[in-house]
Amino acid sequence: MTSAPLADPATPVLSVRGLTVDLPTEQGILRAVDGLGFEVAPGETLGVVGESGSGKSVTALAILGLLPSSARVSGAVELHGRPILGASEKELEQVRGAQVAMIFQDALAALNPVMPVGTQVGEAITVHREVGGAELRERVVELLDVVGIPNPAERADQYPHEYSGGMRQRAMIAMAIANDPALLIADEPTTALDVTIQAQVLDVFRRIQERTRSSVILVTHDLGVVAGVADRVLVLYAGRAVEVAGVDRTFYAPAHPYTSGLLASLPRLDRRARRDRRLHQIGGQPPSPLALPAGCAFHPRCEHAEVPGRCDGEGPELREVGPGHLSACHFPERVPAPETVER
Ligand SMILES: Nc1ncnc2c1ncn2[C@@H]1O[C@H](COP(=O)(O)OP(=O)(O)O)[C@@H](O)[C@H]1O
Ligand SMILES: [Mg+2]
Repeated sequence: MTSAPLADPATPVLSVRGLTVDLPTEQGILRAVDGLGFEVAPGETLGVVGESGSGKSVTALAILGLLPSSARVSGAVELHGRPILGASEKELEQVRGAQVAMIFQDALAALNPVMPVGTQVGEAITVHREVGGAELRERVVELLDVVGIPNPAERADQYPHEYSGGMRQRAMIAMAIANDPALLIADEPTTALDVTIQAQVLDVFRRIQERTRSSVILVTHDLGVVAGVADRVLVLYAGRAVEVAGVDRTFYAPAHPYTSGLLASLPRLDRRARRDRRLHQIGGQPPSPLALPAGCAFHPRCEHAEVPGRCDGEGPELREVGPGHLSACHFPERVPAPETVER
C-alpha cells in the first residue's frame, strides 16, 4: 500500500465477501457476523441497519482490523480491489484515517478534553501529511466550516467541553474527513443526539457527499436515519444480510418481513392524524447469536412464516427479487406493501 489508488468508477471502493466473525465468549464461540457480502461504489452512501446486536459494529470494526485479537475473522475485504483483511498492522495504520476513516457514536469520549478542538483536527491531518503553520490552520478552519461549525476560526481554539454534543460530533466528522478518505464509516453517529441535532448532523453527511466523492457507510439501528442520506440500504439480522436494496425500494417495496417491521415502527405523519394507530413494534427480541432458531433466524418473530415448514426448516439464501434488490426470505411476496411513509 504505497500510493493512493486512482478512483475507477467500475471498481468498488469497498468489497466485502463472505465476512464471518467468531468471537470467544464465556458461553462459547459467538458468530457475530455470518457470511456477509456487500460492496460500496465510489461516492455511494450505504446505510447498514439492524437492531442492537445484529452485528453492525463488529462488521465495521472487522473492516478496519480493529477487533480484539481473540476474534476469528474470515472472508475477504478489499479496498479499491486490494485485500485489507489480514493486512499487517503497519499497512492498516496507513489505511485508517487516510483511506478509510471512522466516526463513533460517542464524540466526547473520542476527543481529548485538554486539547483545543482545532489542534485535534490539525493532528488528524499531520498524522498523514506534512503540513504546518498558516496552511494547517487554514485547513482546520475550512474543515470546521465544512461541517457547519459557526465562527470556525474562534471555535478552533475552544476545548471540547465548550462544544455542544452536536458540535462535538461535527468536530469528529471534520477529523474523519481531514484527509479526504475514500470511505467514511460512521457507526451510529447521531444516536446520542436529540432529534433536531440529529437532522443537522445528517445534513453534514449530505454536504460531504456533495463536496467530496467520499463513499459513506452509515451504520444505524434507526431505519429512519438512512432515509434522506443513503443511496442503498443493507439490513442485518443476527449477523446476516436479510435485505439489500436501493433506498426507495427499501421504503416502498421491502421484500423482507424484518425490513417491513422496522418500517412499521417508524413515526409517520399520517399516524399523528390517526391517533388510534399505534407505532407497530416488531414482537419479541432478536435472537442471541449463541442460540439461533433453526431455519430462518427471523421466523419466530415473523407474521408470515410457514411453520412448521420451510421457514423453520431451511435457512433462506439471499437472492435477487428485483433490480439491485436482494432478499433472504422464502416468501418475499408475502411481505405487505408499506403504507405511505414519512420521509
Ligand atoms: N468483543 C466482543 N466479544 C464478544 N461478543 C461480542 C463482542 N463485541 C460484540 N459482541 C457480540 O456480537 C454481536 C454483534 O454485536 P455488535 O456488532 O456490537 O451489534 P450492533 O452494533 O449491531 O448493535 C452481539 O451479540 C454482541 O453481544
Ligand atoms: Mg453497534
